[in-house]
Amino acid sequence: MNVLLIGGGGREHALAWALSASPLLTTLYAAPGNAGIAELAHCVALDVADHAAVLAFVAEKGIGFVVIGPEAPLVAGLSDALAAAGVQHFGPSKAAAQLEGSKGFTKDLCREAGIPTGAYGRFRDAAAAHAYLAAQPVPIVVKADGLAAGKGVVVAATRAEAEAAIDACFSGAFGAAGAEVVIEEFLDGEEASFFALCDGQTALALATAQDHKRVGDDDTGPNTGGMGAYSPAPVMTPETVQRTMDEIIRPTVAAMAARGTPFKGVLFAGLMITAEGPKLIEYNVRFGDPETQVLMMRLTSDLLAAMIATADGALDHFDVRWRDDAALTVVMAANGYPGTPEKGTEIRGLDAAGTVAGVQIFHAGTRRDGDRLLADGGRVLNVTALGATVAEAQARAYDAIAKIDWPGGFCRSDIGWRAVLRETAKG
Ligand code: AMP
Ligand code: GLY
Repeated sequence: MNVLLIGGGGREHALAWALSASPLLTTLYAAPGNAGIAELAHCVALDVADHAAVLAFVAEKGIGFVVIGPEAPLVAGLSDALAAAGVQHFGPSKAAAQLEGSKGFTKDLCREAGIPTGAYGRFRDAAAAHAYLAAQPVPIVVKADGLAAGKGVVVAATRAEAEAAIDACFSGAFGAAGAEVVIEEFLDGEEASFFALCDGQTALALATAQDHKRVGDDDTGPNTGGMGAYSPAPVMTPETVQRTMDEIIRPTVAAMAARGTPFKGVLFAGLMITAEGPKLIEYNVRFGDPETQVLMMRLTSDLLAAMIATADGALDHFDVRWRDDAALTVVMAANGYPGTPEKGTEIRGLDAAGTVAGVQIFHAGTRRDGDRLLADGGRVLNVTALGATVAEAQARAYDAIAKIDWPGGFCRSDIGWRAVLRETAKG
């Protein structure tokens, strides 16, 4: 089967790597891909917002299955265009992608279905938002309703900060994404990421992960797309996973089916593990980046078969297997990230770094210029390793990083610290 993978980040390199191992795969295409993906797939410069162009490419190359990596094409309805043309694909419809596309939509669904999440209000004007805020305790969380590339959330320690966040949203700081504001109760606990495949009816638990959102060591500095991750997340005990499936994932799948907008794809739940149990912070309707890099290292089943079973509504007859090993990934970002990253600096030493036992290097923002490998984005490389423990995976990843010669980039030096501390405490 010929497969087209949409996207070009570290998540898609990891997906391409796992898809390449499938005996079902004939030829892999990626749009746009990156320099790492180009070693596994034919990279093509398709405008994925142009659905007719994507359909024409699918017909021309005899593509039997399309995997949509990022959220933007999902929220824009690429799945619907593929479905209308009878093309099998992995990724939810535009209506189901509202679970990520509108935070207010998800909060209302949680309320309807009794899914544990923070108390909230939805507002379309500043006066009503300020009036609601005045009656709430702080800290409190202010969110732009729509997609804002991870930048639309302010965890406000004071009422003044929350007021400023409301005003920023309504004055257009996030464009159309900020036309509605969600004000949400602050949830206290440890965060975890949970992934489940959903075929519209059945949900199949995948694995757990934790990421590091802040740019600096000790979880300091501005938020990013994620500076590193590891899997499994120790806070996700078997009991917490069970509760997450029973109280959050399955009721969501049932509610979406009941609305006539069944969810098919991967549901990525951002959770807060509170004293009362897991609560939903937010949904994403695609795999996490960089969480996917660690999940794919641990997955031993055929990813393409799992995605086809998801699309076919056949997950009740399906199962996936994982290595017991832990996986950890460290993001190397270009100097300047998460502000304006420096582009075009040369990266050397990846071959040597790739020889460290258990290590895979996934590319995020890279491109080739002849023989040279150049940085071409904010997050540039994901140095990923397996190990018997998180500590071992961490040591291997940082050994590999020490062999990479890239003065134009940086990384955090403490990815996985929380899990490593737990392992040390257990002895
Ligand atoms: P989101 O984009 O909704 O995942 O929010 C980004 C980050 O803000 C999350 O990863 C949390 O660290 C934090 N956050 C969002 N909502 C809440 C909440 N209700 N309580 C505490 N922290 C939150
Ligand atoms: N790493 C968080 C995300 O993919 O949204």
